[in-house]
Amino acid sequence: MLEHIERPGIGTRTLLYGRLEEANVATSMETLLKGLNLDLAAEYQAIISYRLFASLASGPYRNEIREFFEEEIPDELSHAQFLADKIVALGGTPTAEPLPVKITRDNREMLEIALQGETDTIARYEERVAQADELKLTALKVRLEDLIVDETEHKEEIERRLHNWKE
Ligand SMILES: [Fe+2]
Ligand SMILES: [Fe+2]
Repeated sequence: MLEHIERPGIGTRTLLYGRLEEANVATSMETLLKGLNLDLAAEYQAIISYRLFASLASGPYRNEIREFFEEEIPDELSHAQFLADKIVALGGTPTAEPLPVKITRDNREMLEIALQGETDTIARYEERVAQADELKLTALKVRLEDLIVDETEHKEEIERRLHNWKE
């Protein structure tokens, strides 16, 4: 997928999906892969924390909160799957380590932690879109924009729940 070739007269260049790019593209690809692995670690973090929040939710709204977090998990799993596949396709190695998982038994704090997580994730994907665009990886850019749509829906759903908080 990504290989360095020597051409007399033009020096070392990088062949990326059959296109000749400037030599500095290799560095940017490394940066992109590092970023995608950070995104993957954050998706693992979301999966683990949402699973545990669903189990730890308590009080009169326990079932509602449990269902809410359980419903988000398949989205985050599909994001992790997409990122792992893409990292491999781009010649990288997907991480097996989640970002540190923050746990609480307080229902409202669960939503606040999740809100911060979704907000950070959107910012990271926006950065990744710009990097994919720079590398002319249009399909990746479009898929990352789809992830931003999912995460924005998660964020808005959490905001609505916090806004109507009555516990
Ligand atoms: Fe996600
Ligand atoms: Fe999310």
